[in-house]
Amino acid sequence: MRAWLARAYGGPGVLVAGELPVPRPRAGEVLIRVEASTVSAADRRIRAMDFPRGLGLVGRAVFGFRRPRRPVLGVEATGIVVAVGSAVERFRPGDAVIALCGTRMGAHAEYLLLNERAAMVPRPSGMALETAAALAFGGTCARDYLRRGALHPGERMLVIGASGTVGSAVVQLAAAAGARVTGVSSAPNLDLVRSLGAEEVIDYTTKDILATGERFDIVADAVGALDFSRAQAILAEGGRYLAINGSVADMLARPRGSRRCIAGPAAERADDLAALVDLATAGRFRPLIDCILPFEAAVQAHARVDTGRKRGSVVLRLEEQGGTEE
Ligand SMILES: NC(=O)c1ccc[n+]([C@@H]2O[C@H](COP(=O)([O-])OP(=O)(O)OC[C@H]3O[C@@H](n4cnc5c(N)ncnc54)[C@H](OP(=O)(O)O)[C@@H]3O)[C@@H](O)[C@H]2O)c1
Repeated sequence: MRAWLARAYGGPGVLVAGELPVPRPRAGEVLIRVEASTVSAADRRIRAMDFPRGLGLVGRAVFGFRRPRRPVLGVEATGIVVAVGSAVERFRPGDAVIALCGTRMGAHAEYLLLNERAAMVPRPSGMALETAAALAFGGTCARDYLRRGALHPGERMLVIGASGTVGSAVVQLAAAAGARVTGVSSAPNLDLVRSLGAEEVIDYTTKDILATGERFDIVADAVGALDFSRAQAILAEGGRYLAINGSVADMLARPRGSRRCIAGPAAERADDLAALVDLATAGRFRPLIDCILPFEAAVQAHARVDTGRKRGSVVLRLEEQGGTEE
């Protein structure tokens, strides 16, 4: 099968197109023919070995000290189950699925092997491939942080990085849950952020978000623009700072009075993925798509992610090249 391989850490140029054997599913595993995936901020972090402050060593321990231990990146995908191992109960060949493979990665290849208990759900017929491909990474992260942040209807929420994959999901899900959302982005993205459900917008290039005099019940920071200490200036009593892109210091931060910091890796849950599918089907959640590129353009896709300016997800589409492996 064709696959993109990161044999070293570095810029998009470390990626090489390669051939790997199609994996065979063992007990409990399903083999998926990938139809579309994304190049995400996580793929960039792993490829570049660039983690928030204090997490570099953890990143190398998890992903490989000198080079990626698993060279095929790609943390989410949609595709068709083409084979299943023994004792698989939830999926059958022919099923269309949406999967979040997370730190196991492997979606930047023609075939992806996952345990049937991974965060994987059926793809509704009629859902666009790009929507299905881009549903999981930002959406599950947003749901997990909103759950841990215990958002209540009517609360004031600031979302920093509101035009990114995670931020755009946080804006939509928080607004749908009844929050009064203020989104932060640069001027060209302000209308987009409003269209996602933000009542107010702030252009961070012309306005200091710490100097607006406003206080928020939740500050979701998908950029790492602040930290828990600096966020004190804009957190209301009982406020929560969601350090989505947080450092070790944020992870270890103790509550300050009634204010607390929430940080760390987001959970990868099939029930969150199923809820996102339901919301998308009902027209209440729309993963934001920056661009759709062919699988062959993975290097270009990584370069787009590296700009830090993408608006939502960069989708990679695979065209079927021949028969399936069953
Ligand atoms: N904790 C977890 O488990 C977890 C899970 C998923 C992701 N993450 C992390 O979350 C971060 C965001 O991921 P993502 O996929 O959303 O990234 P992304 O899509 O690459 O974010 C790009 C967006 O960020 C905006 N941006 C850049 N600088 C900004 C600033 N100073 N203020 C406001 N907006 C700014 C850009 O808008 P402008 O062009 O308008 O500036 C752009 O639209 C990544 O660092 C990722 O590693 C963590």
